[in-house]
Amino acid sequence: MKWKTPQWLWAGVLAFGLLPLAAQAADQAPDASAQIEAQLDKKFAEGKYSPKGADTCLKCHDAESDKPATGIFHNVHGNNGVPGSPMSDLQCEACHGPVGNHARNPRKGQQREPMITFGKESPVPVEKQNSVCLSCHSKEADKMGWHASTHAVEDVSCTSCHALHVEKDPMLDEKKQAETCVSCHPKEKSDLHKRSSHPILNGDMQCSSCHNPHQSQNEASLKQPTVNENCYECHAEKRGPFLWEHEPVTEDCALCHNPHGSINQSLLDKRVPQLCQECHRVPHANVQIPEGDLKARGGSCLNCHNQIHGSNHPNGRALRE
Ligand code: HEC
Ligand code: HEC
Ligand code: HEC
Ligand code: HEC
Ligand code: HEC
Ligand code: HEC
Ligand code: HEC
Ligand code: HEC
Ligand code: HEC
Ligand code: HEC
Repeated sequence: MKWKTPQWLWAGVLAFGLLPLAAQAADQAPDASAQIEAQLDKKFAEGKYSPKGADTCLKCHDAESDKPATGIFHNVHGNNGVPGSPMSDLQCEACHGPVGNHARNPRKGQQREPMITFGKESPVPVEKQNSVCLSCHSKEADKMGWHASTHAVEDVSCTSCHALHVEKDPMLDEKKQAETCVSCHPKEKSDLHKRSSHPILNGDMQCSSCHNPHQSQNEASLKQPTVNENCYECHAEKRGPFLWEHEPVTEDCALCHNPHGSINQSLLDKRVPQLCQECHRVPHANVQIPEGDLKARGGSCLNCHNQIHGSNHPNGRALRE
């Protein structure tokens, strides 16, 4: 941070010094985060927002400072032409709250004005952080059922996925999204690097091709109501209907496939024949298959039962044609 000339300090004092909470910040409650929350509550209740202040803030938070804030001007939140965007109204304070004396006394360790900050290190409770976003995005959030979603229930903040001061939000960046998701989902991270996987690492697909992490309507936060409906979205040929169905296929594709990745071909949970023998312990108990045939086919189930997802052939009951 380049500490600017005293004039800037004055600008800060003039802009914010009149806000009333400086004295309150001196009350040292034992629990810092409870104290900050109480003060924020009070500020919210009083509706004490200072007038537009981005210019003042940018005197210290310009591109060269070590806490730059200028990235936001590359996205909708920094665009004062977008109706309802923060920059068209309360500007920086729409999200950070009334920052009051911060501009006069910004250093850690000194007396600091309580301010809304975001991320893991922030003393502001996650629910309060999210309430800032929801003050503008509650309609979308309610429609999707955000409040009952796994992520909301697990206290995941909006900003552990979304970033606001960057040119492109990683959630909307096809190359960066998965990286952010797997930072909390190590199992999926390792699956993605296995021999067979959906083309996610190269950015052709995203986690959000299948999931909507905001919502609670569907199992596993899928965009479709069931696993199979999700798969049919892109693998429509597997939907059937088939004259001869293979029961587990119509029931749940994930009985055999791991959508995130597998060390086996075709995202299969297990190798054939072990996969088949999980359910068909002693195949051919009721039918005589000539020994020579089995040998000639290398004994591999799929060499004969090659219509494993279902068959429309009149003689296809055994999924062989
Ligand atoms: C006089 C310079 C100055 C001005 C003006 C200023 N800041 Fe800061 N700000 C700083 C400094 C220095 C820090 C780093 C403080 C620290 O590391 O504890 C900081 C930190 C921050 C942080 C991060 C706090 C944290 O805990 O991580 C936010 C958010 C912030 N400022 C927002 C604003 C906003 C919004 C404005 C305008 C309303 C503003 N600042 C105006 C100097 C300033
Ligand atoms: C739409 C909400 C929003 C608005 C508007 C906004 N911020 Fe932020 N700010 C955030 C979030 C969220 C973070 C946490 C980091 C991130 O997501 O990029 C943050 C982080 C910061 C930080 C800390 C950066 C760091 O390196 O630790 C500063 C400083 C800051 N903002 C200043 C500002 C200034 C100055 C403005 C006005 C020009 C502003 N913010 C407008 C949401 C906002
Ligand atoms: C002052 C109102 C306001 C606040 C506060 C606000 N947003 Fe927004 N946000 C908007 C508007 C307006 C848009 C553009 C909406 C549109 O295009 O339909 C937007 C768009 C977005 C988008 C889509 C971006 C894009 O490029 O399409 C995301 C993601 C988002 N906001 C997340 C957040 C998060 C996370 C927070 C809290 C840190 C937040 N917003 C706080 C008003 C706000
Ligand atoms: C677990 C990660 C995650 C969390 C937490 C999260 N989001 Fe998102 N958000 C996403 C992803 C991924 C997308 C992109 C969806 C897509 O491309 O279909 C998105 C898209 C959006 C959009 C743009 C929607 C559109 O249709 O253009 C907005 C607005 C938004 N999020 C707001 C929020 C708000 C507000 C919160 C907190 C209440 C939040 N998000 C929490 C991952 C997340
Ligand atoms: C900050 C950490 C964090 C981030 C980032 C994150 N998640 Fe999660 N996610 C969790 C936690 C915690 C749970 C609940 C425990 C679990 O299932 O691991 C969860 C659960 C889930 C579930 C299971 C939901 C259900 O209804 O059963 C899915 C699917 C998921 N996350 C997808 C995503 C996607 C997609 C992204 C990126 C867009 C993402 N997550 C980003 C923390 C995170
Ligand atoms: C091709 C679709 C698809 C893609 C892409 C996808 N998922 Fe999934 N995911 C699923 C399905 C289907 C399930 C439910 C699996 C089941 O029922 O066994 C699931 C389940 C999950 C779960 C819950 C796992 C559990 O054990 O409860 C998490 C977490 C998850 N996905 C995270 C991610 C992340 C992170 C990404 C991006 C790296 C991602 N998914 C990409 C389809 C997908
Ligand atoms: C958003 C589209 C989409 C969805 C949804 C989807 N897939 Fe895929 N799937 C693809 C693409 C793209 C490929 C790669 C095709 C290629 O490489 O030719 C693929 C490939 C596959 C493969 C072959 C992998 C390999 O290594 O050869 C299997 C198996 C598969 N998907 C199963 C599923 C299952 C099961 C589901 C549901 C849980 C599902 N897919 C959902 C798009 C999707
Ligand atoms: C009983 C186990 C099983 C179930 C259930 C299953 N599959 Fe498969 N799937 C396989 C096997 C075995 C292969 C490898 C076929 C081969 O190599 O000839 C495969 C291959 C695939 C492939 C890649 C090759 C191709 O045929 O395009 C896709 C895509 C696929 N399955 C999608 C699905 C979908 C979608 C579902 C659910 C509707 C599903 N699978 C259910 C066993 C299964
Ligand atoms: C999750 C359990 C499960 C898995 C895994 C599974 N099947 Fe099946 N399969 C069934 C069920 C249930 C039926 C229908 C009931 C029956 O006839 O046993 C069936 C039916 C069949 C039939 C038709 C039987 C008939 O004449 O009606 C064949 C052939 C078959 N499976 C082959 C395979 C092969 C080959 C594999 C491995 C690629 C496999 N199955 C994997 C559960 C499974
Ligand atoms: C040489 C070809 C061949 C191979 C290899 C083969 N099958 Fe078969 N399978 C058949 C024939 C032929 C039938 C009887 C078809 C009929 O009744 O019309 C059959 C019937 C079945 C049936 C239904 C009847 C029953 O007894 O349950 C199942 C299940 C089955 N096979 C599973 C498997 C599995 C699992 C493997 C791999 C371990 C396998 N098959 C390998 C040819 C083969």
